[in-house]
Amino acid sequence: MNSERTQVAIVGAGPAGLLLGHLLHRQGIEAVILETRSREYVEARLRAGVLEQASAEVLREAGVGERMDREGLVHGGIYLCFDGVRHHIPMSELTGGRAVTIYGQTEVVKDLVTARLSYDAPLHFECGDVSVHGLDAGQPSVRYLHGGSEHELCCEVIAGCDGFHGICRPSLPDGVLSVWQREYPFGWLGILAGVAPSTDELIYAYHERGFALHSMRSPEISRLYVQVAPHDDVANWSDQQVWDELHARLASDRFELQEGPVLEKSITPMRSFVAAPMRYGNMFLAGDAAHIVPPTGAKGLNLAFADVIVLAQALDEHFATGSQAGLDHYSDRCLARVWRAQHFSWWMTTMLHVDPSDDAYGRQLQHSQLQYVCSSTAAATSLAENYVGLPIPARGETKLARG
Ligand code: PHB
Repeated sequence: MNSERTQVAIVGAGPAGLLLGHLLHRQGIEAVILETRSREYVEARLRAGVLEQASAEVLREAGVGERMDREGLVHGGIYLCFDGVRHHIPMSELTGGRAVTIYGQTEVVKDLVTARLSYDAPLHFECGDVSVHGLDAGQPSVRYLHGGSEHELCCEVIAGCDGFHGICRPSLPDGVLSVWQREYPFGWLGILAGVAPSTDELIYAYHERGFALHSMRSPEISRLYVQVAPHDDVANWSDQQVWDELHARLASDRFELQEGPVLEKSITPMRSFVAAPMRYGNMFLAGDAAHIVPPTGAKGLNLAFADVIVLAQALDEHFATGSQAGLDHYSDRCLARVWRAQHFSWWMTTMLHVDPSDDAYGRQLQHSQLQYVCSSTAAATSLAENYVGLPIPARGETKLARG
């Protein structure tokens, strides 16, 4: 077995693991990133595409925002569509100029992989049998197979950035984690279409046939979703059926949906999940390994970023001074923001989807909520500040800071 040493072993080369590795590199902290999938796979994985103001800023400040600044689309608002009417929520106006950037997670991952390879820091794809050890004993290590041989990576800290289905969270002893979760009685069928977006900003639509979302990836590529049954199969949906649903659900005045070739089609489940604490011994969980949100609030990637920003700060302090304080506060600092995003994502989801088991009373409530958000500045501001993202609390604070 090959034995190696590093300061931080990062399990998972998704956005959380890659951004953490990059931030640590800039702080002069050594890390090794281990990923079970191939580089091609992680760079092709189609995921969300909305960066909060703070997420875009961290990429920019960390020197990996150049392509995002060139190709990303800055949006200062969204539309909510119901009863055939599109209402504009002017998010920037309501939040003192904050905005989101539409830039695919896939692109963020490519930029971070390119950066890491450019400074020759360890990033190993296609690692087999990854397992974590010594969490109780204070001597953490990660074992894995790579390039035909067995490796043991001894470290001071393990960052579990390996997603909801990863090995880090299930490696914790029974009884350590509390879990809160909810499954929704619907899923999203998403298409990537080779056609210019039919809208300048994202449209979230509530319709009696179900939710629909018109998003985009670039001036030439649209990303669209329709609510479907949770265990539906994409094979049940022809491209034309998807377009027909999108036409019906997005219909509004002065809006014409342009169709184009469907480049990808898949179904995303909708789940809310939180596991806490986000730390056990010297292993820290970040991103989807610790929490999942339904995509309606566009928060998944942003929460993962917020976790690793907090973790990078705590590790910086720890390796510079030996202090445990930041590490001790990691879980609480993250969870305050996680729960805010959980609530927001649940709220957007329940406001905009048709729950087949709901009654007419429930639909009246959704309607009233939509009307309130579209007519009250206070209600619209609440949506806007959550959507563009609340500030990441500064060192030492566990409460969400005011914007
Ligand atoms: C996307 O573009 O994939 C997207 C945008 C907004 C969401 C979810 C997904 O709320």
